Amino acid sequence: MTAEIIDGKAIAEDVRAKVKVSVAERLAAGKPVPGLATVLVGDNPASQVYVRSKRKACEEAGIQSFGVELPATATQADVESAVRELNQDSRVNGILVQLPLPSHLDEEAVLNTINLNKDVDGFHPVNIGRLAQKGREPAFVPCTPAGCIYLLEKTLPTLRGVNAVVLGRSNIVGMPVALLLVRADATVTICHSRSKDLPAIVREADVLIAAVGRPEMVRGDWVKPGAVVIDVGINRVEDASKKSGYRLVGDVAYDEVKEVASHITPVPGGVGPMTIAMLLQNTLRGAELAEK
Ligand code: GUN
Repeated sequence: MTAEIIDGKAIAEDVRAKVKVSVAERLAAGKPVPGLATVLVGDNPASQVYVRSKRKACEEAGIQSFGVELPATATQADVESAVRELNQDSRVNGILVQLPLPSHLDEEAVLNTINLNKDVDGFHPVNIGRLAQKGREPAFVPCTPAGCIYLLEKTLPTLRGVNAVVLGRSNIVGMPVALLLVRADATVTICHSRSKDLPAIVREADVLIAAVGRPEMVRGDWVKPGAVVIDVGINRVEDASKKSGYRLVGDVAYDEVKEVASHITPVPGGVGPMTIAMLLQNTLRGAELAEK
């Protein structure tokens, strides 16, 4: 059996088109243009690419984008004061501080500075705390995890009672996606580089979320036949046949796993585009929260 491909690119385009319509409806109703501010500190090339594509996507959806760029030498006070200024700016409905920050900066303190109702990345400790607690609602849910759940909801009739395995425990993906799966009534196992017998744990998964950042780590014989596989990894591997000298692969050995899984996300074109689509949705939500 060859797996059905979960077309994240097409699903994300659909979400983005809906956001664009909602933004146009707001304008027609005399409401202000939603605005997203990106904060980029230093010159990490991957972060520069991500921020550029987030800003471009905003513009395409009719969302105003504000780019704040600070040098790698920026102090903690510099970054926090840039965030505070954006908190005060009524044109800004969402503030995204691109991670990772240079290592001399205190990431938690920066995220703590963001106004909860502008925390479109959902990384503010209070929003993450609410996500982890029953009966509490975060103002925003982190974008990549929300994108994974969106794809799963398009693929499966329900997540209730399914055995979900999350490979990876990062603050940005692994942990929040596990929390979202619990909220969706899945039975969740989180495993990571220190887990014993990873293949045996992964083999129990009806739904697998691979988010470890290790190229093609999950092999075909790690996967239960018929499982749904969501590959969050975006890894560069050398490839002399490409002009750039590299190609992108996920955390899953795609060619092997597609012969075992029932559904699988490709890399690129799976989870990646969903992150941006969820960010636009969250920014629109930020604009709606600002009216309450
Ligand atoms: N770095 C990698 N992924 C993300 C993300 O979703 N948001 C931010 N702010 N930084 C990231």
